[in-house]
Amino acid sequence: MKLENIKCVSCVGAGVIGYSWALYFSLKGLDVNVYDINNEALDLAKSRISKSLESLVQNGVVVDSEVDDIMNRIIYTSDMEEAVKNAQFIVESGPENYDVKKSLVEEMEKYTSSKTIIVSSTSGLLISKIAENAKNPERFIGAHPYNPPHLIPLVEITKGDKSSDEVVSLAKEFYKSIGKEPIVLQKEALGFICNRLQMALYREVIDLVRRGVCSIEDADKAVTFGPGLRWGIMGPSLVFQLGGGEYGIAGALKHMGPSANMWLEDMACFKEIPEDFAMIAQKGVDEEIKNRDESIGNDNSSLESYRDKMLIELLKLHNKL
Ligand SMILES: NC(=O)c1ccc[n+]([C@@H]2O[C@H](COP(=O)([O-])OP(=O)(O)OC[C@H]3O[C@@H](n4cnc5c(N)ncnc54)[C@H](O)[C@@H]3O)[C@@H](O)[C@H]2O)c1
Repeated sequence: MKLENIKCVSCVGAGVIGYSWALYFSLKGLDVNVYDINNEALDLAKSRISKSLESLVQNGVVVDSEVDDIMNRIIYTSDMEEAVKNAQFIVESGPENYDVKKSLVEEMEKYTSSKTIIVSSTSGLLISKIAENAKNPERFIGAHPYNPPHLIPLVEITKGDKSSDEVVSLAKEFYKSIGKEPIVLQKEALGFICNRLQMALYREVIDLVRRGVCSIEDADKAVTFGPGLRWGIMGPSLVFQLGGGEYGIAGALKHMGPSANMWLEDMACFKEIPEDFAMIAQKGVDEEIKNRDESIGNDNSSLESYRDKMLIELLKLHNKL
């Protein structure tokens, strides 16, 4: 399969992640088949696509005259054969469960050529296991997006033990060609790269709050108006490179070393999220939301609109929109 042959993408499973991928592929001019288990799920996907598209129009990413074409490039079906038979690239975003994903593999393979690339959006299951009964496991890989995939550029590509390097390279090329930032994990790792990074930071949030050092709200403010601003521009190693001045990151780490080693000694290293923290976090977030102005989001719906508006502005600065 060659990059230029990829004209139609099938999105199998059209919930939070699947609908957003479908919208993105259509935005990029590809034909899209959306599959879900029944008409109710398909109607929900369609209304989510329409709502997100409206937000892209409001934020100046898409012009009104393009909307009909974007919507018309997407077809909706609960017939697997119709969904996958003419697609060259399939994105599986069904429930996060080995049994469901394995039976989807079987179903998808029934109606596709052995060359069709199939990627899974799985957040944490092993590709090797999802594809263990596949007839053509070499064309299966993981392609983990971040929510919402129609805005966040990162895709973490993972290989199973039988995935072919050729498929990995082609998928990487494909994602780049449609404006995504794919990175390929050199070996399988639970949680991939970003979920591990997020959880490492969040373990410290949990610990700081439980120790009474700060509230949930202040931990959020610390990230949003401190390092988060820099991380939205460049990664933590480049930030340290600048922090080290003429000595670069090597100098920064040497300089910080003795202090940082004391912090590390004192920092959280627990291996399970403390059971009581879900309620503590919810109470803290409810309090935080009460203190916010509507213009920056003070309920789930307005927070989502604010997040999308700000993401779009950042992505424009990164030349990603
Ligand atoms: N939500 C996130 O932030 C996020 C981020 C990255 C990756 N993921 C991964 O993406 C995948 C989908 O997650 P989601 O958040 O969109 O879940 P979701 O529950 O919103 O969507 C799942 C969809 O699959 C459909 N479905 C149910 N049974 C099915 C079947 N047998 N065949 C096909 N479709 C079926 C459901 O109707 C639903 O529309 C999961 O593997 C998840 O781990 C989620």
